[in-house]
Order: sequence, then C-alpha cells, then structure tokens
Amino acid sequence: MSRIFSGVQPTGDLHLGNYLGALRNWVALQHDYECIYCIVDMHAITMWQEPELLTPATREVTAGLIAAGLDPKNNVIFNQSAVPAHAELAWIFNCVARLGWLNRMTQFKDKAGKNRENASVGLYAYPNLMAADILLYKATHVPVGEDQKQHLELTRDIAQKFNNDFGVELFPLTEPLIFGEGTRVMSLRDGANKMSKSDPSENSRINMTDGPDEIARKIKKAKSDSELLPSEPKGLEGRPEAANLMGIYAALSDKTLTEVCIEFEGQQFSAFKETLTEVAVAVLGPIANEMARLVADPGYLNNVLKDGSERAKAIAEPILAEVYDAVGFLRP
Ligand code: TRP
Repeated sequence: MSRIFSGVQPTGDLHLGNYLGALRNWVALQHDYECIYCIVDMHAITMWQEPELLTPATREVTAGLIAAGLDPKNNVIFNQSAVPAHAELAWIFNCVARLGWLNRMTQFKDKAGKNRENASVGLYAYPNLMAADILLYKATHVPVGEDQKQHLELTRDIAQKFNNDFGVELFPLTEPLIFGEGTRVMSLRDGANKMSKSDPSENSRINMTDGPDEIARKIKKAKSDSELLPSEPKGLEGRPEAANLMGIYAALSDKTLTEVCIEFEGQQFSAFKETLTEVAVAVLGPIANEMARLVADPGYLNNVLKDGSERAKAIAEPILAEVYDAVGFLRP
C-alpha cells in the first residue's frame, strides 16, 4: 500500500513557487494515492511567529490547498498541533537521532546563520519532528523539493535505527517523490535565488492571492537580460532570469522547455512577458478568487481542519501505540 505525506509551513503568503513546486503536484497525486497533507504550525514556531498572525495564516494555507484543487473529503488536511502524537513521536526520535546526524543538516546552518548560539533548540531538532510527521503515518512516499531531500534521508536513517535498536519492522523506508523541471521557481529579481516568502522584496514573488494587475506589474518588472529568446534550452545557459521566466511559462502552460523555446525563438522579452502574464492570470486568477471566498468563511476552514485532524488521529494513534510498546513504555 502507498501512502503520501507532505507538509507546508503557515508562514507568510503562499506564492508561485509553492504552487508549481508543491501544491500542483499534490493535487495530481490525490487520485492515485491516499494522501495526508499537514499544515506544520509546530515547525513554523522554530522561528518566531506572531501569535495573532499564525492563526489566520494557518487558515489561509488551508484555503490555498483547497483552492489549488485538493478535495478535503478525499485527502486528510489538518494542522500539526491538533494531533499531539506528532510531538510525542518527535520526542522519541530526539532519543534515536544522533547529534552528529543533526550537525550535518544544511538547513539548520542556513536558518541559524552566524548567531547559532541564539537559534532555538526547536530549529535544531526540526528534522526529528519532520521524521515524526512522516513516520507517524508510515508514509511510503513524500513529495519534496530539492531543499528537503536531506531531511528525508535523515528520516530513513531514523526509521532504520529505530527498527534495528528495538528489533522491529515498524517503520518503512520512505521514498522521496521528486517532480520534473519547472518546479524550482526562482526569484523574479534574481535568477540565482529561490522564490521565497522571506525575500524582503514583494516584487521577487507572485503570491497566490495576487490579482491580475499585481501579476502583470510584477512580471513587467521581473529582471531579464538584453538578448533575444533562444531557440533551444541550451541557449539559456548563463541566463538565469530568462531560464526562470521560460521555465515558469512552461510549467504554467504544461509545455516542455523545448516547446517554449520553439514558440518564442528570437522574440523580445516584452512580447514574451505579455503572453506569460496571460497564462499566469488564467491559472492563478481562479485560485486567488477561490482563496478569497474561503478565507471569508473561517468557520468552514476550522471544520475542514477539525475533520482532518480527527481522521489523522485515527491513523496516528494506533501507530504511536505500537511505538510505545516497542520502546517499553507502560500504557496503563
Ligand atoms: N520542512 C518542510 C518544508 O519546509 C515542511 C515539512 C514539515 C514537511 N514536515 C514535513 C514536508 C513532512 C514533507 C514531509 O518545506
């Protein structure tokens, strides 16, 4: 049996990078797998989050998942903190994972920056909580971007060590599901950096809630270069901004980069950007409208998360009980 688990943090706005790199793939997976999608509020607080913003952000991400096309009846959609078993299994994994393993995690080094002494302990233990998210459901596959591959390898190491130490075959060795080109969307202001919600420049990203005028303005301002568009993908080497914009167009229009190059060969950026804007508005416009409609109904979103967390618990609790038995915890 196959089971998918993935997570998204409720921090800042969902943007085109989240949509093309994650959400769109999740929507495609829902027909072939049992899918569990988690809004990881406990991961979010490994860096400071304003409490009064975290609540609406959790609802907004929920709205984004549904607006992007995930059916909350067919998928389990919930927020992590509503299922305490995540924290409980994470504690056990804190005792399985070795300091040496976590010391190698590049995301911690990036996020902690220079002042590592001042990073939260939670940020350091973040990968153990992520392993708990996945293994609490014995998920077989996890759709992740390039930047999360190391955490998935750690998840496999934890599963293996747990199984070995306790002489059980409890946890699967979860496989990553990596998606094709066009899923790594770069900043519109700098083709060398990922599109990110933490970039101070609003013009660096297209948010999933942006209206047609904002989308048009950001694409118009997007950094380009002075050459004409190439006839084949090889011509994009050394042209990160052109590669990014043409990659975005390919992903949004479900074409290959080769097809896009043939379509725009020899054209100027200005003409290409107009077509890109049309496609972006056509794809994102309906999603933004649906998100706005859903966000206006917090009661409905709360119900989705309540129902999802109950269904998540029904899967997670028996697995946590197996873990407790393996560890030797007395369950009175
Ligand atoms: N760390 C992931 C990210 O920032 C989010 C995440 C948390 C996750 N738990 C997960 C992703 C479990 C996949 C599976 O993108």
